[in-house]
Amino acid sequence: MKLVLIAAHDPNLVIGNNGELPWHYSEDLKFFKKQTMGYPIVMGRVVFEELNEKPLPGRENIVLTRSKSYDHVKSFKSIDEALVYLKDSEKVFIIGGGEIYKQTIDRADELIITEIKKKFEGDTFFPEYRDKIGSIWEEYWREEHKEFDFVKLRKV
Ligand SMILES: NC(=O)c1ccc[n+]([C@@H]2O[C@H](COP(=O)([O-])OP(=O)(O)OC[C@H]3O[C@@H](n4cnc5c(N)ncnc54)[C@H](OP(=O)(O)O)[C@@H]3O)[C@@H](O)[C@H]2O)c1
Repeated sequence: MKLVLIAAHDPNLVIGNNGELPWHYSEDLKFFKKQTMGYPIVMGRVVFEELNEKPLPGRENIVLTRSKSYDHVKSFKSIDEALVYLKDSEKVFIIGGGEIYKQTIDRADELIITEIKKKFEGDTFFPEYRDKIGSIWEEYWREEHKEFDFVKLRKV
């Protein structure tokens, strides 16, 4: 199983503010949908609440929480339990938020990053990885746009 973290961050690695995305780029949402469609997506409880507890269609939604359980979506109390459940999937996407990225980046095979060019106020960050490009991470694909670049990195 290939584990992929997919995230959008600003130049300071900001990914969120007050439980929400600090920006709205519809092209980025389309890109996210295209990358993840058909694959399981794993998210923290805060992200699921940001989705108003409505699973994203066309993808198996998995929520990580130690405090809640849901009737309409599968949840796990640990990342290990979730990944054991998903072990036969070809590819699994970690879609955030900050707590979940931090706990999974070391075991990720790939990062799919939207590099937002403008700076935003934020209280939630993607873990630092850019200092490891060239050692642990290798950028192998980049698509440039006016307000952001889409970038794919794989573990060397
Ligand atoms: N820019 C992006 O690409 C992007 C993507 C996603 C999210 N975000 C932003 O990130 C922010 C949310 O991130 P966050 O760090 O606050 O929250 P989060 O990572 O979405 O969720 C944290 C919650 O997940 C549960 N959790 C954490 N580790 C766990 C583990 N090992 N096992 C089981 N459950 C675990 C806990 O839920 P319980 O408290 O219920 O136990 C914890 O409170 C929002 O602002 C959102 O907009 C940005």
